[in-house]
This record gives sequence, C-alpha cells and structure tokens, in this order.
Amino acid sequence: MEKDVEIGIFGGTGIYDSGLLEDAQEIDIDTPYGKPSDTITVGIFNGRKIAFLPRHGKKHTIPPHMINFRANIWAFKELGVTRIIAPSAVGSLKEELEPGHFVLPSQFLDFTKSRKGSFSEEGRVIHISVADPFCPELQSSIIKVTEKQDLKIHKDCTYVCIEGPRFSTKAESKFYRTTGADIIGMTLVPECQLAREAQMCYVSISTVTDYDVWAEKPVTAKEVLETLSKNVEKTKKILTELIDQIPKTRSCSCAKALAEAEF
Ligand code: ADE
Repeated sequence: MEKDVEIGIFGGTGIYDSGLLEDAQEIDIDTPYGKPSDTITVGIFNGRKIAFLPRHGKKHTIPPHMINFRANIWAFKELGVTRIIAPSAVGSLKEELEPGHFVLPSQFLDFTKSRKGSFSEEGRVIHISVADPFCPELQSSIIKVTEKQDLKIHKDCTYVCIEGPRFSTKAESKFYRTTGADIIGMTLVPECQLAREAQMCYVSISTVTDYDVWAEKPVTAKEVLETLSKNVEKTKKILTELIDQIPKTRSCSCAKALAEAEF
C-alpha cells in the first residue's frame, strides 16, 4: 500500500476525474468501514503525489445520504494523505451569492439525520473540537490562489448541511435563512469532522449552483449540473495552482486534533 500520498481531493458533483495527474494508477482499497465510493486515482502533479476520489462515485451513482464517508476518509489516511481539498456544489441562501460564484465556508450547521459521524465506537470515546472546522492554512492557500486568478470568492461563510437527497421545502429554506447561514449542501458533514478526527487538514471550496427554494423557484438537478459544468474548468484551474501553493510542511494544529479529545 502506498503511504506517501500528500494531498487528497474529493471530487464533487461534476468533477469525476481530476484530469491533472501523471503516472496515474487506480487503487482499490478496503477499510474496516467497507469500501470507499470508488477506486482511488493516485498520481503525480508537479512533483507532488495526489489521490483523487469522486465522493458520489465515478459514474455519480451514490446519493449524498449513502456516501460511506468513513471509508473515504479512512482510505485517504491509509494512503498517507494529510491534507484534503473538497470541492462541492451548493445552493445559495443569500441574494449576493450568485450561481457561478465560489464560496469558502468557515463554519457549518449540521441538519443531517442518519450519518455515521465518528470513528469513535464503544470502548473509545473521543470528543474532538470543531469550533473552527476547516484548516486555516489550506483556507489561506485558496484565498491566495483565487486572488491571483482574479476570481471572486465569498469568505467566512456558513454552510447548512442537510440530509438530502431531496432539496428543501420553502419553509425549511426560509428557516435556514433566518439562521444567517450563507449556503446549503448535502455533503460537507460528516466528511469534514471525520477528517478532523483523523487529524487531517480539510478545506471545502463550494460552487454556487442555484438560489435555494426560498427564492420561490424550485431547485432542479438539471440547473445544478448546468451551472457546475460551466464552472468545472475554473475549479480545475484553482486546484492546479492550489496544489503548488500548499506548503510542504503543516504549521496548523489539525495534526493535534486528538491531543485533548479523550477522557
Ligand atoms: N446542492 C446544490 N444546490 C443545493 C441546494 N439548493 N440544496 C441542497 N444541496 C444543494
């Protein structure tokens, strides 16, 4: 088993292969939690070893509530990944966050219902802090890259994570707006907290694909895909520069997430 992969990318909706990797190999991994979403593509980009896994599977067959998040994170950890970049598609809860814009979440509100959100099971009780759930070092790398590429990115945003796979009712959507949250999606939780528990750095970069239904027009999967396909090249360009931008050694505290987490 390879153990020298540095960076892992979870492809979101619309991103099923990174298209960036040289000497790419497909790796089939089994974990104590079952199989990850698909085989993992491992290859080299600008001298750095990268793993790529589309969280819905390469053919987009796994709905958000059925993603085996624990297996996905575990498999990356097995490969040696210490940093995870997680692109995703989100709806907007605010007028000024327009379809096509990029968003950098810094907080989340968890409205999921039936997901396995921890590696901790009977016999080992872990309470990690997710006060600030994203890696500050990776967040500042994304800000540098988007500024350099002259791309607008909304920072310090709050992501509402719903169970899915259905979209929200109007009442739910209007309620989420009252919380002050900015965007809504179905995949951030528990991916992000499992990464923290595994002491890996994690950052999410979201593409706004629609105004959620608070704006009265029902969201459709077609609309989501259309906006995403217009943005795929921009997302790939961000990923390309981001990989170069990420410092070789970690100076954040993500690697020490378990230091004060156990009784
Ligand atoms: N993903 C993309 N758009 C969404 C929306 N409006 N609600 C939940 N998840 C989404």
